[in-house]
Amino acid sequence: MNHINEITHIESVRLSDDGRSVVIIDQTQLPNRTEYLTLSTAKDIWEAIYHLKVRGAPAIGICAGYGIYCLALQIKAEDYDGFLREFRKNKEYLDSARPTAVNLSWALNRMERIVTGNSDKKITEILEFLKEECLKIHQEDISMCRAISEYGLSLLKDGDGILTHCNAGPLATSRYGTGQGPLFLGKERGMNFHVFADETRPLLQGARLTAYELQKAGIDVTLICDNMAGIVMKNGWVQACMVGCDRVAANGDTANKIGTSGVAVLAKYYGIPFYVLGPTSTIDMECKSGADIHIELREPEEIKEKFFREPVALKEVKCYNPAFDVTDHNLITAIVTEKGICYPPYTESLAKLF
Ligand code: MRU
Repeated sequence: MNHINEITHIESVRLSDDGRSVVIIDQTQLPNRTEYLTLSTAKDIWEAIYHLKVRGAPAIGICAGYGIYCLALQIKAEDYDGFLREFRKNKEYLDSARPTAVNLSWALNRMERIVTGNSDKKITEILEFLKEECLKIHQEDISMCRAISEYGLSLLKDGDGILTHCNAGPLATSRYGTGQGPLFLGKERGMNFHVFADETRPLLQGARLTAYELQKAGIDVTLICDNMAGIVMKNGWVQACMVGCDRVAANGDTANKIGTSGVAVLAKYYGIPFYVLGPTSTIDMECKSGADIHIELREPEEIKEKFFREPVALKEVKCYNPAFDVTDHNLITAIVTEKGICYPPYTESLAKLF
């Protein structure tokens, strides 16, 4: 395998060989250690999602699909109603792990529809259908990422400088990724990009994961702190910004990792195209605008302590730690999906996808 394949074939989430647990790469240990975790209980899966051991909207969806199937195998129910009751308990619990990425509830709802749509079948058969469905969610993500990467690549030229935020590569998805997918596909075709990866405070997905993936794939990557995006744009080093997404509203407003909207504002000022890349499963037509998107708030320790040798602020200092922000649709040049590239007005172009 060449370097690019080693990275694009990283399996950040899969079903265990005995088909009863979920195996993930613990993303909190990267880039220093590659450790795999086997998740078998509802608490294991919930905690892995909550603590970002598995993260990135599509990967969370895939993990939830495998997870709810493995938990369904453990249900001891007398009849269908008892099975459904236990299934829904697990579903509600997993769904509470992280609110912003729509892929979590999207995958869980998809799995639930298999159960409710087969109420006349034996539980053993329902379990078989659930297995097929979670494997399908994963397979579909592989082809969606490929298609998104193709469309995204059509927007770039060889030698371009690209700025990206957070991680939307193979670890967050399947194979190529979304926001960073075109970079891997382009490299495979002999193109050379100069990538600026925002470190992505406070959890450093850009430094720990994106810079790791790109470096290992032999792509020219330069790590910058989040507050350096302006200077690299002003220097003329960035020809396009590409990011992933956690939930896209019907009007194109896009929730993605905290700091994304600032990058989009800077890009607008410097006249640089700002592209959002993601599968249609991340578009939530029930959300009319970004105002309907629930933003996850996280612990102050992530800002004050995590990754520092000693605390960088007094314990009593208040923190505001939103995990995501919403980029206004009018800052987004295009939204790239597996079905094609959508341009403004997004209320029309996104609706046409469904
Ligand atoms: O909190 P995270 O690390 O799960 O946030 C991830 C992002 O914001 C990604 O950009 C997004 O999920 C797209 S992943 C293809």
